[in-house]
Amino acid sequence: MMRTCVLMLAWALKATLLSLTLLAGAGICLAQGTELELKPLSFHPTVRSRRPVAAVTMPEGRLLVANERSGTVSLVDPDRRGVLNEWDIGERLVDVTAIDGTHFGFVDHAAHQWIVAELTAGELVIRQRLPVAAWPICAVKTSSDKIVVASLWSRSLTWLRRAAQGEWRSEESLRLTFNPRLLLALPGGKLLVVDAFGGQIAVVNVAEGRVESQRTLAAHNIRGMTMTPDGACVLLTHQQLDEDAATTHSNVSLGIVLSNLVRQIPLSALLDPSASLEQESSRIFLGRTLEGAADPNGIAFEKSGDVLIALGGTDEVLRMTPDGDEIERIRTGHRPTGLIRVGDRIAVLENLGDAVGVIDDAAHSAVEIPLGPHRELTRAERGEIDFHNGRLSLESWMSCHSCHPDGHSNGLLADTSSDGSLGTPKRVLSLLGTRDANPWAWNGGMRELHEQVSKSVTTSMQGEPIPLDRQIDLVAFLHSLPPAPPLVPSTSDDDRQEIEHGKAVFRNLGCATCHVPPLTYTSDATYDVGMPDEHGQAKFNPPTLRGVSQRDHLFHDSRAVSLEEVIDVVGHQLSRTPTAVERRDLLRFLKSL
Ligand code: HEC
Ligand code: HEC
Repeated sequence: MMRTCVLMLAWALKATLLSLTLLAGAGICLAQGTELELKPLSFHPTVRSRRPVAAVTMPEGRLLVANERSGTVSLVDPDRRGVLNEWDIGERLVDVTAIDGTHFGFVDHAAHQWIVAELTAGELVIRQRLPVAAWPICAVKTSSDKIVVASLWSRSLTWLRRAAQGEWRSEESLRLTFNPRLLLALPGGKLLVVDAFGGQIAVVNVAEGRVESQRTLAAHNIRGMTMTPDGACVLLTHQQLDEDAATTHSNVSLGIVLSNLVRQIPLSALLDPSASLEQESSRIFLGRTLEGAADPNGIAFEKSGDVLIALGGTDEVLRMTPDGDEIERIRTGHRPTGLIRVGDRIAVLENLGDAVGVIDDAAHSAVEIPLGPHRELTRAERGEIDFHNGRLSLESWMSCHSCHPDGHSNGLLADTSSDGSLGTPKRVLSLLGTRDANPWAWNGGMRELHEQVSKSVTTSMQGEPIPLDRQIDLVAFLHSLPPAPPLVPSTSDDDRQEIEHGKAVFRNLGCATCHVPPLTYTSDATYDVGMPDEHGQAKFNPPTLRGVSQRDHLFHDSRAVSLEEVIDVVGHQLSRTPTAVERRDLLRFLKSL
């Protein structure tokens, strides 16, 4: 849908003082009739929440920003500190790729599409909507006529090729064994694919369409990735959780429980499948005494060679020397995530601030460009900000999102006292669908979600207690999170029959007594299923099985790594061995939840 630009940009007057000065400056230029095209901005965006997630630079130094929540694209002019236009093009845009000077590809996570649009005569015109594997999350151009799209929940890559007429077609796809989030084209026709939640990292041979190597890093929440300017190394920003470190005051304060870092991996090691990435990489720990660096995101080099890292959890951009010495922190709006080099400046995507910040080489603060007028936030939106707020934790070392990335789980164990004891690490539970997981915590000890939230702040994160009102905001946000979609949705009638039969087996084997269908697949009691923890605590509340196929570790101690293992190795709650057909259909059913 196109939008015409008619009205004066009154909302922009809410921008920072500096941007006011610049807008005024722009006006003067016009009055004097200079050649510069700096007339007052005339675009008037509507009131809504946007959530910028990705951007590309345009030849004139402008930015094309993809907004997730609104499904819109904003054209931002960093020079004039304003938004020039905005177009509604999809449901949930999560990435944008420059195809050539005028064509751009957008990844629509909710519509499961790759959208090709052309910027022509100041308008963004849709040229094609191409279906791709479900829940696409990002895309990368690997050659002038080839794009690879990664899909989060369907754990796959789709190859797109531009045919002679300029139309894009999907060619083939490749299954992955983890949920991908970041892609980077490497020299030699290779592609780096990085885990969305945990520490898997795969190198894919693009021409042959196969995974060449897959290795695990001691890492989770890998959110930023870039090449060093000399092209010799890849830098990743991520977090690391010590599964054995109890969440005590000193362990949190020393950054032992949860550390935030930049990892430098030589390209040669990435391209050598036999190299140990853990040994070959060097790590820079971010943060210092009393000042943690929660949730590092985007990373970019300044012209000077200094490195900027967006700290999503502290609303800052950290500036450090190439050797890793922190120089300063630059304040930004809520949750800076992406960093994009625009000429001599760096643009910051302020995901929860609905703004783009601009940092000059020598600047000590970011100039903020709001993407639209801000309205009063809903409870869930305020809770979303606190969920990503590292300042809720002792000395800003972590946020809820650090252990529960995007509300899901980093798949690791953490020794919190949610179970009433330390020395008994438990798997981080996914909060996707947690609204139906009453009672909460592995031991079912929490009857009210706000009690669990409050406990998470004061014990898991060792933060100051937060008032009930903010606890309820966080609960409202958690209530907005649907369960993770199934890895393998049903596809055909035969498949649906198998699933129906699997459901009957599930009841027949007695699973449904504790994992009650059709909504929650849990129950509100605790049961001893023969897996006591280190302190002999044996009664646990069954985790909901909604979205269970998206978990790579199962049971409170992660003793199983697949649903197959739950049945074949653990033999969880099986009074008899299922037949081969029962086993197959039961697994199929579990993977459809
Ligand atoms: C250090 C990692 C860590 C951090 C940070 C963290 N959690 Fe958790 N969370 C866990 C672990 C581990 C569990 C399971 C613990 C247990 O039940 O024994 C859990 C469980 C939960 C549960 C119960 C889910 C269920 O289905 O029973 C909720 C709700 C929750 N966390 C919310 C939060 C919120 C909100 C925050 C931020 C205020 C937060 N967590 C921060 C590790 C963490
Ligand atoms: C007596 C109650 C009970 C019955 C019956 C039962 N479960 Fe469970 N289930 C549990 C409990 C409790 C846990 C958590 C145990 C732990 O991790 O210590 C669990 C965990 C699981 C998990 C792991 C989930 C996760 O996120 O870690 C799966 C999968 C599962 N059950 C499937 C089944 C299936 C399939 C059946 C039937 C064959 C079944 N359960 C029967 C109580 C039960």
